[in-house]
Amino acid sequence: MAAKVKDPARPSLPVRIVVTREEAERAVALEIAELVRTKPRTVLGLATGSTPIGVYRELVRLHREEALDFSRAITFNLDEYLGLVSGHPSSFGRWMRSNFFDAVNVPEVNIHTLDGSLELARARVECERYEQTIADAGGIDLMMLGIGRNGHIGFNEPGAARDTRTRCVELHPWTRADAAHGFGGLEQVPHVAITMGVTTILDSRRLCVMAFGEHKAQIVKRTLEGAIGPDVPSTYLREHSNVCLWLDRSAASG
Ligand code: F6R
Repeated sequence: MAAKVKDPARPSLPVRIVVTREEAERAVALEIAELVRTKPRTVLGLATGSTPIGVYRELVRLHREEALDFSRAITFNLDEYLGLVSGHPSSFGRWMRSNFFDAVNVPEVNIHTLDGSLELARARVECERYEQTIADAGGIDLMMLGIGRNGHIGFNEPGAARDTRTRCVELHPWTRADAAHGFGGLEQVPHVAITMGVTTILDSRRLCVMAFGEHKAQIVKRTLEGAIGPDVPSTYLREHSNVCLWLDRSAASG
């Protein structure tokens, strides 16, 4: 059988496979901590969901037990559901408060989340303002990311173009199905959301991407080996020059 030749048109993504997800969570948290210590005014891009939760837990521990100081850090959340009442218990804004912001010392003025209670026209204006605020902060130093089962990054669902920026999007059926539990049923899950775009994400200076569990194995394989393009937005990550994909053994099994 012919040896597999690396195709230069299909750049690869640096991968770290660990035995337990806790190892990855700790490594990503330590990388963030190191950055915040060396550059206190670090600009962080933040994801929500089951993937990064252990990273936040570790960052909170480092803050409490090792005086990790976020007093100059600036944060931008990746995405938010649209059409929610302000402070909705299933909103990402609320999730961030209970899993991170309430337990650390990022100043309120430095926390940027997208407002899921806006009606569509106002949300579109908010998207442009968000892009400007990121630019004014000097761009994102490090962005933490998970990958959806359909390859979405943020809420850049299949079909998302490489040149997209923060905008309102329609959610993919799988994304809504995956969110159903948190909303108490599929019919409660919003159909639209706001998300940073693919370009917004790829403009970050460093990307720490994580995927854990067997349910992510197929999409991880497609992310690493499939053609780069809108069908699987996570394949765009291979175009970034400073990215690491952390996998546990189950997510790497494909
Ligand atoms: C969340 C986000 C999403 C998730 C993805 C994976 O802010 O942007 O792209 O990272 O849906 O979700 P989990 O981690 O719950 O498997």
